[in-house]
Order: sequence, then C-alpha cells, then structure tokens
Amino acid sequence: MIEVRGLSRWFGSTCAVRNLSLAVPAGSVLGFIGPNGAGKTTTMRILATLDEPDLGDALVDGFSVVDDADRVRSRIGYVPDAYGAYANVSCVEYLDFFARSYGLVGRPRMDAVNRVIEFTRMGHMLHKPMNGLSKGMKQRLCLGRALIHDPKVLILDEPAAGLDPRARIELKEMIGQLAAAGKSLLISSHILTELAEMCDRLAIIERGELLAEGPVEQILRGQAFAHQEPAEVSRVTLQVTLLGEAGPACEWLRSARQLEAGVIAEQILELMVADEPAEHAQLLRELVQAGFAVTRFTTKSRTLEEAFLKVTRGNVQ
Ligand SMILES: Nc1ncnc2c1ncn2[C@@H]1O[C@H](COP(=O)(O)OP(=O)(O)OP(=O)(O)O)[C@@H](O)[C@H]1O
Ligand SMILES: [Mg+2]
Repeated sequence: MIEVRGLSRWFGSTCAVRNLSLAVPAGSVLGFIGPNGAGKTTTMRILATLDEPDLGDALVDGFSVVDDADRVRSRIGYVPDAYGAYANVSCVEYLDFFARSYGLVGRPRMDAVNRVIEFTRMGHMLHKPMNGLSKGMKQRLCLGRALIHDPKVLILDEPAAGLDPRARIELKEMIGQLAAAGKSLLISSHILTELAEMCDRLAIIERGELLAEGPVEQILRGQAFAHQEPAEVSRVTLQVTLLGEAGPACEWLRSARQLEAGVIAEQILELMVADEPAEHAQLLRELVQAGFAVTRFTTKSRTLEEAFLKVTRGNVQ
C-alpha cells in the first residue's frame, strides 16, 4: 500500500534521506524509528505530498507522490508532528471544514464528521475552541481530521509524544482498529517501547539511511541489522535465578564451562551465550545435574531501546 523506492532528499549539503526503500502492506503498521534529524519527518512529508524527493519515488496505493499527487492526497491521512490551532474555531467546525475540503457534501459530510467523532471519542470537546485544547485533545482532533476522508493510508509523525499513559493506550487501540480495518500505517516515534506494542514491523533510520527493517521480534533479537557482525548478532543473555546464592553457580559456569557469567543480584546471574535453544536446554540440564537449584531460566530479550542504541551511532545531523 505504501512503497518507498530509492528516495533521496537533500537540503543544501545535508542529505536528509538517502536512497531509502520501504514497504507497508495493507493492514500493516510500520514503526519508523530514528534519532533527531534522522529523516523521519522528511520522508513522511514526501509521502504526504508536502515535499518532493530529489531522487526516487514513493507509491501510495499504486500512485506516485511525484506524478499523481492529487490521487495520493485522496488516499492518505497525515498527522504532522506540530499543528496550528485556530482561535474562534471549534473542534466540530474544524472537522466540518476539512470534510468540505475533501469535497464531501450533505449527508455524507455529516456522516463522515460523526464517524470520526465517534471513533476518536471526542464527543465531550466538540464545541471547545481549538486554541483551548490540551495536547491530548489536539492530537485526537488532528487524528480525526486525518481520517475524515476515510483514507487507506495513515502517516502519523510522533503521535504519542506528550500523551499521558491513558491517552497512549487509547491511541494504541485506535491504531489497532485502523490496521484491522485494512489501513496501512507508518508511525514515527521516540517512544520506542510504545512503538514495539503498536507495530508489526520496525524500520530504523539514521542520517537518512535505513539501518534495519523487519518484524518487531526480529529487531529486538538484533537479527535485522545489516551492518552488524554475525557473531555479535547471534548472542543472547540468559538470566538464571537460583534458590540460594548465585555466586557458586556463577563460578561453576565460568570455570567448568568457560562462559561469560556474572552475578547481578543475590540469587540471580546472567550469562552470554550463543542464540541456540538446544544449547540452552543442555546448559540447564548440566546446571541441575551439578546440584544447583534453578528456579527460573529465561532468555533476556533486548529492549527496543537497547537495540536502538546498539544500531544507531548517536549522531544528530
Ligand atoms: N526545510 C529544511 N531545510 C533545511 N534542512 C532541513 C529541512 N527539513 C529537514 N532538514 C534537515 O534534514 C534532516 C532530517 O530532518 P527531519 O526533520 O526529517 O528529521 P527527523 O527524523 O524527523 O527528526 P526529529 O526526530 O527531530 O523530528 C535534518 O538534518 C534537518 O535539519
Ligand atoms: Mg521529525
């Protein structure tokens, strides 16, 4: 539904996006992660037809953002990272204005406004002036506006920024419902753990370049990072909890098995091993046979923050 093909965009000597390719199928949610200045907003603005690429193209529902911008606009809803508020315009007037802008008239226009109000649960704020809205309310209104023409594709630039936990959960629910209705979503955020829950796949971008792209699980396991050494990628951390003190078991792992083990709490040790489940099972068997009382034995999956820090170089453009 979204297909980005070799997209590049320069601002003077700064390359904001470099030869970027991405795909988001129908009914799928792609999380777009990167540090400040990575090129997320630039990419999203090009998809929303607010900017043009210097090289490459992007297709929305098969239409080019360069050659068929009008058709793209009718198929895309865009929630920018910052949006203006108008004094003396109420929420319902704002939605009605955008419904008219998309050419909706009469009953279909009323239906579209009501559908959006119901979906975003903003019934309580309809007659509030736009400049009197809280951050969460504004964000809801902006999402509502982006949905007014029932687009197939949604581009959300940092929609979770500044929201309280409840509002984030509601946002997550809305994103799930939109994906279930067959829409394709591209969502950027710095709230990495939030993104993992909202998305099917993640794309990590830095300095305009795609560093990794794949299913959330794969990214968390560090398997989708193109430039990492294979040996580095295939190692995981095991966490072992013992009934008594972890010290003796840790010593045994180091001396008998030559493993990198360390005690992290009185009863808990961690060790680095190859990402091979059969070896983990063997290790557990040997620990028990050696007389250690193991109460928990788990693989510690890397958090998204860790994966992100590992793959990005922390360079802000
Ligand atoms: N209109 C512009 N003129 C000049 N440079 C720009 C313009 N828009 C973006 N840039 C530059 O392009 C690069 C990418 O910016 P972009 O806003 O796409 O990053 P981002 O990933 O959205 O960052 P953030 O997380 O801070 O929102 C930055 O170096 C930025 O300074
Ligand atoms: Mg941005």
